[in-house]
Amino acid sequence: MVKPGNMASSPLLKISNEIMRITVTIISGAILGFFLGISIPTSHRLHLPSSIIANIMDKNSGLATQALLNHALSSAHSGNRNNSRSLHTDTSKIYAPTNPRGAERLPPNIIVAESDLYRRRLWGKPDEDLQIQPKYLVTFTVGHDQKNNIDAAVKRFSENFTIMLFHYDGRTSEWDEFEWSKKAIHVAVRKQTKWWFAKRFLHPDIVAPYDYIFIWDEDLGLDHFDAEEYIKLVKKHGLEISQPALDQRKGLSWQMTKRRRGREVHQETEEKPGRCSDPHLPPCAAFVEIMATVFSRDAWRCAWHMIQNDLVHGWGIDFALRRCVEPAHEKIGVVDAQWIIHRGIPSLRNQGIAENGKSPWRGVQDRCKNEWRMFQDRMANAEKAYFEAMRNSTAVKGVDKG
Ligand SMILES: *[C@@H]1O[C@H](CO)[C@@H](O)[C@H](O)[C@H]1NC(C)=O
Ligand SMILES: *[C@@H]1O[C@H](CO)[C@@H](O)[C@H](O)[C@H]1NC(C)=O
Ligand SMILES: *[C@@H]1O[C@H](CO)[C@@H](O)[C@H](O)[C@H]1NC(C)=O
Repeated sequence: MVKPGNMASSPLLKISNEIMRITVTIISGAILGFFLGISIPTSHRLHLPSSIIANIMDKNSGLATQALLNHALSSAHSGNRNNSRSLHTDTSKIYAPTNPRGAERLPPNIIVAESDLYRRRLWGKPDEDLQIQPKYLVTFTVGHDQKNNIDAAVKRFSENFTIMLFHYDGRTSEWDEFEWSKKAIHVAVRKQTKWWFAKRFLHPDIVAPYDYIFIWDEDLGLDHFDAEEYIKLVKKHGLEISQPALDQRKGLSWQMTKRRRGREVHQETEEKPGRCSDPHLPPCAAFVEIMATVFSRDAWRCAWHMIQNDLVHGWGIDFALRRCVEPAHEKIGVVDAQWIIHRGIPSLRNQGIAENGKSPWRGVQDRCKNEWRMFQDRMANAEKAYFEAMRNSTAVKGVDKG
């Protein structure tokens, strides 16, 4: 359920209203279609787009819709005339194999394979809808308890950013006390995680116009962060996957994300002995965490494909992100000059349920670790299958040659 700000207080009610409306439109469209069908001579029968039918059904716009209908009829007639003269306009002959899968019967020029999250007006000229086309997207996965922190965070992002909130507590209308919230994109699904939302609502074809995509947690302190400055540094240093450095003593899991004073960015670190088998590999390089990750468009297209539908906590993805960029130890990095604080508020962790004598918190924690193992196993198996298939195909080629 993606929709612009101003959400109804009861999303479910709104959905069922929507379904009612669609159903009513379809039924009345079908009745109208039947009458059109019997009143127009069969040789001129045509399929009216449903939008025209819906428009005709609108009792307030009689004259305008009559004009629309006339237009549709006359272009259909002239189309028919041309059809009889030349096969080139027989639309049933269209088959364009280079179109996106499933859309081969459409003439290529009508295809719109990618979308965006831009809000549009209901009136005026479409090409004048957008005063600014935001080039960057920032998403926060939020609960209402963190609204003041998110309000402060959002102020660090300019008008060049689309703001998108994923609500894991289902509370959305309360956010409208903030002016920016009315222009934000709100998606509400209870007790779901950041990566669950990202997989479902940030398909690379939907977020295609954005140069950079920020997929961020709600418990970040951004007092020393400016998003436009951050973008400048990421571009300057060619970072495809990045995060702002963390400046704090407590709660640091990895050396890599720790802020280095006097630097703009860094791409490598030293860890505790034994943690890094290779200085170019995680967690010593080619590594950022998943609390405040920033992806370039291309890196996100790859990372999206790696996110598993059932592994919702994203544990282990940070170690695998390097597979999406080459060379990873140069294109993955931490921005020191724009840094943040990770407050470590447990938020979603407390949204589990008590089960088998375990606290809710413990149940979520166990699942996180388990998912990490599962993800590692899947990756190892996928690699093994790939290399086996490669070996088999070269073996077959070898036989062919011999
Ligand atoms: C029909 O053909 C005429 C003459 O070839 C052309 O001017 C007109 O645009 C065509 N109409 C359609 C709907 O293709
Ligand atoms: C938004 O982007 C434009 C174009 O890159 C830039 O000129 C402008 O300064 C940006 N706005 C802010 C507030 O940085
Ligand atoms: C490769 O060949 C082996 C031995 O013939 C076979 O067991 C295996 O299934 C094949 N793997 C793939 C991915 O085709």
